[in-house]
Amino acid sequence: MTHPSRREFIASTAAMMAFAASSHTGHAGAATAKPPVNAPPTPSQLERRKFGATDMTVTVLGFGGAEIGYQKVEQEIVDRLLNAALDAGLNVIDTAECYAGSEEAIGKAVSMRRKDFHLFTKVGHMEQGDAGWTAGSIEKSIERSLQRLQTDHLDLVQLHSCSRELLEKGECIEALEKAKKAGKTRYIGYSGDSTAALYAVESGRFDTLQTSVSIADQECLELTLPKAKERNMGVIAKRPIANAVWRYDEEPKDGYVVEYWKRLQKLQYDFTRGDARADAGPDGAAGVALRFTLAVPGLHVAIVGTTKPERWKQNADLLRAGGPLARERIEAIRARWKEVVAADWTGRT
Ligand SMILES: NC(=O)c1ccc[n+]([C@@H]2O[C@H](COP(=O)([O-])OP(=O)(O)OC[C@H]3O[C@@H](n4cnc5c(N)ncnc54)[C@H](OP(=O)(O)O)[C@@H]3O)[C@@H](O)[C@H]2O)c1
Repeated sequence: MTHPSRREFIASTAAMMAFAASSHTGHAGAATAKPPVNAPPTPSQLERRKFGATDMTVTVLGFGGAEIGYQKVEQEIVDRLLNAALDAGLNVIDTAECYAGSEEAIGKAVSMRRKDFHLFTKVGHMEQGDAGWTAGSIEKSIERSLQRLQTDHLDLVQLHSCSRELLEKGECIEALEKAKKAGKTRYIGYSGDSTAALYAVESGRFDTLQTSVSIADQECLELTLPKAKERNMGVIAKRPIANAVWRYDEEPKDGYVVEYWKRLQKLQYDFTRGDARADAGPDGAAGVALRFTLAVPGLHVAIVGTTKPERWKQNADLLRAGGPLARERIEAIRARWKEVVAADWTGRT
């Protein structure tokens, strides 16, 4: 009887483990068709970017998990939405412990195919006011997120827009550093804007920055992003499509989006007026807005929020069809912003 050599034994064991891991995804079609989470894209797939100094490579279009929570999207729709997006190439899912059921829904929908995506969440609002930013509260919050998301580790945990004063105090940053050392999260970041984000970047203690970037929110282009790029941080654009506020004919009642609507009334970009508002092609409002955000230097992934199963693929198709936004168009958007920007047009959290 012949025995396998040590090399053959290791090779066959590795193959079995790989097979076991892929069948563990419980998503047979995707498990065979999808490249590994960090693989370079094939020509037909969406662009991926190296995520700062981390070991992650991210699809330029990610998924923002606030809307599925706050809008109470049914679990069956979240299942379809996330699985369809992952099958179409998505590899970044962002959420937060306070997004009203978002973490639980994501855990239920896709935890069985955890190897297909990088998973980001946030901490800080588990308890009211400053109590949410203590070391104890942050530690508890991370444990709760791990349970809800049905995973043994997070790829990124971010402080969810705490003030500069809380950052200066340091306790919340130390709590994240401790979680990273303990292997609960592989990387740590700050999610927020303006001078608090500047402090976070300059502190040198975070791997990543998540900040508002769009045609209606450009303060970070000069204030924080060049410094984040210098430090080779991973950069995530939140609110990257400006909440698509050109959709509203009248001033929206929703306080979260109204400021962007008012800014667009002043900015009067040609692509957010008239027929362009409803144009679903790459040169319509959504296409230009998203392509502008992704042209910002040093930015890696735009996490668009949605309630709709078809949206991720639709936006990915827009990006592929349009390609990089022309330099003249970017310059015109920047010039118009500089022309009308008001002192209080700071980054909106
Ligand atoms: N402080 C923080 O850390 C913070 C704050 C805000 C946001 N975030 C993160 O950033 C993510 C994104 O922010 P967000 O959802 O507020 O803003 P957003 O991504 O700029 O806007 C999302 C809205 O745009 C619509 N939309 C998407 N694609 C569209 C298209 N092609 N045409 C027309 N409408 C389109 C979506 O509607 P449909 O439902 O119709 O697709 C949704 O209402 C959040 O989910 C969250 O993860 C973090």
